Amino acid sequence: MSEIMFEPCQIGALEIKNRFVRSATWDATADESGAVTDTSVAFYKKLGEGGIGIVVSGHAFVSSLGQATPRQYGVHNDDMIPGLRRLAQAVHEGGGKIALQIAHAGINSGHLMSRGITLPAVSSIPEMKRLHQEMTDEEIEGIIDNFAAAAVRGREAGFDAIQLHGAHGYLMSQVISPLYNHRTDRWGGSVENRRRFLLEIVRRVRQAIGPDFPFFIKYGVMDDQKGGLTLDDGIETARQMVAAGIDAIEVSGGVGQGVYRTGENEPIRTPFRERAAAVKRAVDVPVILVAGIRNLETAQDIVTSGDADMVSMCRPFIREPHLIARWQRGETDPAACITCNKCMAIVQRVEPLECGEDHRLREEAITG
Ligand SMILES: Cc1cc2nc3c(=O)[nH]c(=O)nc-3n(C[C@H](O)[C@H](O)[C@H](O)COP(=O)(O)O)c2cc1C
Repeated sequence: MSEIMFEPCQIGALEIKNRFVRSATWDATADESGAVTDTSVAFYKKLGEGGIGIVVSGHAFVSSLGQATPRQYGVHNDDMIPGLRRLAQAVHEGGGKIALQIAHAGINSGHLMSRGITLPAVSSIPEMKRLHQEMTDEEIEGIIDNFAAAAVRGREAGFDAIQLHGAHGYLMSQVISPLYNHRTDRWGGSVENRRRFLLEIVRRVRQAIGPDFPFFIKYGVMDDQKGGLTLDDGIETARQMVAAGIDAIEVSGGVGQGVYRTGENEPIRTPFRERAAAVKRAVDVPVILVAGIRNLETAQDIVTSGDADMVSMCRPFIREPHLIARWQRGETDPAACITCNKCMAIVQRVEPLECGEDHRLREEAITG
């Protein structure tokens, strides 16, 4: 049994019973308006009972123009609060903690694009084959305020923490990336200007939720595309975000590598481990590593080596919401998830999230 993984740890003032995080997962169970449904609540109830230290919700859009996907949770107005409160309660009843992930997709919304909506872009990109328009200074300021208001709603709905979605090529990734940001005003050009948007969001959210409310970020510390955000610039930004009030950093990919994929016969890897270790050396808040973690030994090795303080998983919990409780009982077989990514195909069809491999096996049994 891995003692260290089941020791309590902290994100800011929040005590967490172990070092396992459920990484944010869009589950396509919200209704058309972005409100939580009974299906969503049932889903989180299982996660709450599963022994996970802290569950991060699926990305919730902070304004209508920031919605990335259909059936995504919204936190863009006060009508969303009662539903979100049910989600938080479902996890609390099982003894878990829950953070609300707040997000803006920027130009990266296939959903709004398919409805012919003009997307807010940090810069106009002529080769981009979707309707978009460069944001004015006022619009950028408005989005920063949207993040702050969304965070306050999350706190009101009873969440234990707020997580910013600053990864995977969504708006925060777009603004800091030289690949998307070609502006010449105070939001673009030098890295100091490109990081201003992230730092302003951190400052204004922190101001809005108060000095002690736990607040962290899922952060694409570098881009995986030529000409993108470099690791050095990403790390310096991490340092400045901590100085501005961030309590922990979940290290993921930026532009070019969102949900990490494996080829069919490719062994599972943890692609962000080295960059998480580099972030950890640079900051004095907990660092969380996500992607590719499938067994307890690897999790323990990541933490005991000092590369990260906590580990985060997404797809393993789709197949086994009770994975951590199983490991804690001493049944330490690796996660049953085979990283086939069929779960993603299911939500992309706008069906409620489930394990695609379980789905396939069930269909096979029915058809004999
Ligand atoms: C179906 C699905 C939905 C996801 N939704 C989100 C999301 O809402 N926010 C986010 O930051 N990452 C999201 N991700 C990415 C995961 O949180 C995670 O970073 C990625 O899957 C790698 O971790 P894993 O190898 O443990 O699955 C999603 C991934 C999948 C497969």
